[in-house]
Amino acid sequence: MTMEQQKRYGHFDDQHREYVITDPQTPWPWINYLGNEDFFSLISNTAGGYSFYKDAKFRRITRYRYNNVPMDNGGRYFYIKDGDTVWNPGWKPCKTPLDFYECRHGMSYTRITGRKNGVEASVLFFVPLKKWAEVQKLTLKNESSETKTLKLFSFEEWCLWNAATDMENFQRNFSTGEVEIEGSTIYHKTEYRERRNHYAFYHVNTPIQGFDTDRETFVGLYNEFADPQAVMEGKPRNSHAHGWSPIASHYIEVTLKPGESKDFVFLLGYIENEQDEKFEAPQMINKKKAHALIAELDSTAKVDKAFAELCEYWDALLNIYKVRTGNDKLDRMVNIWNQYQCMVTFNFSRSASFFESGVGRGMGFRDSNQDLVGFVHQIPPRARQRIIDIASTQFPDGGCYHQYQPLTKRGNNDIGGGFNDDPCWLIFGTVAYIKETGDFSILDEMVPFDNQPGSEVTLFEHLKISMDHVIKNLGPHMLPLIGRADWNDCLNLNCFSWDPNESFQTTENVSEGTKAESLMIAGLFVVTGKDYVALCKKIGKAEEAARMQKAVDEMIEAVKKHGWDGEWYLRAYDFYGRKIGSNECEEAKIFIESQGWCTMAEIGAEDGMVAKSLDSCKKYLECEHGMVLNNPAFTKYIYEYGEISSYPEGYKENAGIFCHNNPWVIIGECLAGRGNDAWSHYAKILPSYVEEKYQTLHKVEPYVNCQMVAGKDAYKPGEGKNSWLTGTAAWMWYTVSEFILGIKPDYDGIRIDPCLPETATDYTVQRKFREADYEITIHPNGAQKGVKQIVVDGKPIDGTVIPYSAGKHVVEVTM
Ligand code: BGC
Repeated sequence: MTMEQQKRYGHFDDQHREYVITDPQTPWPWINYLGNEDFFSLISNTAGGYSFYKDAKFRRITRYRYNNVPMDNGGRYFYIKDGDTVWNPGWKPCKTPLDFYECRHGMSYTRITGRKNGVEASVLFFVPLKKWAEVQKLTLKNESSETKTLKLFSFEEWCLWNAATDMENFQRNFSTGEVEIEGSTIYHKTEYRERRNHYAFYHVNTPIQGFDTDRETFVGLYNEFADPQAVMEGKPRNSHAHGWSPIASHYIEVTLKPGESKDFVFLLGYIENEQDEKFEAPQMINKKKAHALIAELDSTAKVDKAFAELCEYWDALLNIYKVRTGNDKLDRMVNIWNQYQCMVTFNFSRSASFFESGVGRGMGFRDSNQDLVGFVHQIPPRARQRIIDIASTQFPDGGCYHQYQPLTKRGNNDIGGGFNDDPCWLIFGTVAYIKETGDFSILDEMVPFDNQPGSEVTLFEHLKISMDHVIKNLGPHMLPLIGRADWNDCLNLNCFSWDPNESFQTTENVSEGTKAESLMIAGLFVVTGKDYVALCKKIGKAEEAARMQKAVDEMIEAVKKHGWDGEWYLRAYDFYGRKIGSNECEEAKIFIESQGWCTMAEIGAEDGMVAKSLDSCKKYLECEHGMVLNNPAFTKYIYEYGEISSYPEGYKENAGIFCHNNPWVIIGECLAGRGNDAWSHYAKILPSYVEEKYQTLHKVEPYVNCQMVAGKDAYKPGEGKNSWLTGTAAWMWYTVSEFILGIKPDYDGIRIDPCLPETATDYTVQRKFREADYEITIHPNGAQKGVKQIVVDGKPIDGTVIPYSAGKHVVEVTM
């Protein structure tokens, strides 16, 4: 390991459930998310980032500059002018060297502390529960022996609501900006005069000695955030923005005696008004709701109380599933960070991160269904609503919009549908919900097609047409036709593009007569098909169960006959019916997705296929940092395959370690009872293990999974990208909680079936499940798999399912 790889930028603080960053110059901004419903913010370790209401595209509240120079530009900045020195608690944007710096990212909050020349500035950022506002509680403390007179400037830059047009339609934007100033509150009301019924405000709970709302006046046309004119001169301009770029900056003069400290509560809020209550006077916005919101959070005591409530909320969520294994690295991921990341992916799907601009992608159909398995145990009612929202974007033939917009919940026409794996995921998500809650009534909910009123059928009917969509779209080998792509968005077998202006995902230059089939969908169909069959039996639909069992059996036969390459499962057939992911291929002889899904489906296990496939993953896909997606990597663009081979070797879908799919193979290992292998694959992509070894190489946040780690063929293997918003979160959770630790919700209770490395020692899981509270201790006794006996409240039970009953239970499991 090189010196570079050993440098560390922070560490875990498990007791406080925080990651503590001690150097602001992290290898990439290390961010956190604030807000759990409706009002959200992204915040980096230097306070960069932005806020939005529900939808990062249509209701962007503040501006952020993606891919800027320097990196991470735009955020909530506090400038402290102490004599001639100007500094920020988060180091940026002034980058004045600090005497002390620390950023603590916690559960939906971030605390950034800086010290300079005897002054400490500490800011606590969070979004109170059920409030449409970001609190920034700034505490200034004089730690020197002299009285300090400081000039404090706050700063936020307004986004003109639609984040897409904000970045492009300058001929209009530069003439629309409007603000109002009232006491210590700056209101942003661009476009409120016409069709918007919402505005934002930035308030501080103390009288101010000046303000600015016009960016050019405050910063200066040729200055930067690092040296705004007003701050450098220590003089606010009291500017009033008309057009151009409106901002909000408060100016406060602060005198602190030695040892004295003062709190300031800044509040960034969002308000919606009814059409007939928009104005209080001509041209004046109705501020009633803003006043009310401010009044709820205008003192240290009120804010501290709101913060305590947020912490209690997280205590309760993280109390639902808790493990004690004695391995800190595992426990902190299971008990804290993995679950936290699952909440974040549930909230944002793939829409807003430091790699996702919040403009391009809304909520993914397949993504959001998968995210559910990481979240459903946390807040089941929200999961329920999500399932209904997703299903409402389905078409009557079972196909569906690939994405929908969170604000409108409408399918996104730009991307459309035609991704043939999508429908199966609805079964995956719904089954997880029912097993967790026992709430079968969701199946009777009336759910529309494409959000059209009057088109409603039951959710169960949506599940049925989802299965049928696969059966009705089979190719020449009786395997599922792939459509635009399956889970791998970049395997575009009907695209055939030489035109760089064409989107790989939405262009189908040919599809008539296609023979392009997917083994990944075949495996997915078998897994979700078995779930569907079990569900049908459970609700007394024996005929439907039999019908689908037949389809599942046929699919299994088709895979065995046409999907097996000798040592592993094929990946697909191309447009012409030629094999993809075969030993016969020149490159990319083996792919991970079909190994994952077909081993999870246990197809051909009796003939040794599963074991051979898993062995091939180890032999060809595994490397130091995880398993790559395909091997060998493509070295040239293949016109028939689409985007996959457009990436240089080792990145993204071309032989990157696409962390999302590693758990599929790990689950395959678990089902096959190979605990040592399962664990070794798992630990390789477990953030806490990566954190210890590779902070600099890995680059991205060490407390969460990223979507992609550069694979063994890449220029820099081990480099991570696209952190936070990835299906990896939910799949890591599903894998460790249900398959490794082996606590699996089922219709009638909790199934216990761990799969462990033989070095595993006794561990205890506390699991709240519906109205029950279980304390389950597992004694592995060196076994990788196989439960010998389960004792519930002192009485041995038959089988491996603890029958559900409300109340507290103590469970002992011997393997
Ligand atoms: C998309 C997923 C897709 C994956 C693999 C992600 O960026 O959000 O839907 O399955 O890439 O292509």
